[in-house]
Amino acid sequence: MATKLMHALIYDRYGGGAAALKYVQVPIPIVKKDEILVKIEAASLNPLDWKLQSGIARPFSPRRFPHIPGGLAEYAVAKEKLTVVRPSEISAAEGAGLPIAGLTAYKALTQCAGLNLDGTGEHMNILITAASGGVGHYAVQLARLGNAHITATCGTRNIELVKSLGADEVLDYKSPDGAALKSPSGRKYDAVLHCATGIPWSSFEPNLSENGKVIDITPGPSTFVTFVLNKLTFSRKQIVPMILTPRGEDLAQFVKLVKEKKLQTVIDSTYPLSKAGDAWAKSMDGHATGKIIVQAYK
Ligand SMILES: NC(=O)c1ccc[n+]([C@@H]2O[C@H](COP(=O)([O-])OP(=O)(O)OC[C@H]3O[C@@H](n4cnc5c(N)ncnc54)[C@H](OP(=O)(O)O)[C@@H]3O)[C@@H](O)[C@H]2O)c1
Repeated sequence: MATKLMHALIYDRYGGGAAALKYVQVPIPIVKKDEILVKIEAASLNPLDWKLQSGIARPFSPRRFPHIPGGLAEYAVAKEKLTVVRPSEISAAEGAGLPIAGLTAYKALTQCAGLNLDGTGEHMNILITAASGGVGHYAVQLARLGNAHITATCGTRNIELVKSLGADEVLDYKSPDGAALKSPSGRKYDAVLHCATGIPWSSFEPNLSENGKVIDITPGPSTFVTFVLNKLTFSRKQIVPMILTPRGEDLAQFVKLVKEKKLQTVIDSTYPLSKAGDAWAKSMDGHATGKIIVQAYK
């Protein structure tokens, strides 16, 4: 029987950025036990996609080439227990942002920061850095649901958007107060969801409440050094490295909130699968507002 083919983006070595992606035809993947075949209407790019291509996790991921990154194909296999049926109220493009960026914001705020999304529990002051990005824009909306006081950082052009998503005060990250992460109303943060990169612990520490914690979703060597030093010195202020381990139950909860229109996906831009290289370059540029979407079918 002839093998059925699909369109996909592939790369066949580490490095090379968008120019190394090839739009080709490859066999439709074969499902194994506990997996399902998913027809991909839309996918979203995450910085992890191009970081893996650059070799950040070599030789563990990708383990072999050619590699299809981040669902950039017409079909993909997925573990059934990690999937959720997309409700008709959520478009494919909007749904594409939820499994990684949305779930990262959800896990960081609910499980790491301890925020109750029904607004019960202790009132929290929360800082969200890079609040205009893929993770940050979901985080602002979730923190709003949890009735937190939200301070956010983003670039000048996105200040009004981030306010409209629910932030109480917004700092331009290029301004002196923004760089110092200072709350304009003088609040100390109980939790920081750190979605930007390159901000040292010394900038966070003076702005934290007594038991404040920074949830670092891009943990590097300095995160782990600070984590250990804080433990050794019995500091009540903490840094928490977080890497998402997706769970179907969490995704179902999160999808329910989107279905109920309690939060939305902000879409930066949409590309057809054949032009996913342009989407890749845009993500690498680091200036997306919300999510970059690739559509296999319109
Ligand atoms: N731990 C995990 O499991 C996990 C999961 C998902 C993502 N991540 C990581 O989380 C980080 C954020 O991901 P993302 O998808 O949200 O990124 P993204 O969408 O690419 O972020 C882009 C946005 O960040 C803003 N920005 C950049 N530097 C900033 C700064 N210093 N202060 C304030 N805003 C800044 C940009 O604003 P301008 O355009 O105005 O510069 C842009 O709007 C990445 O490092 C990613 O790898 C980790």
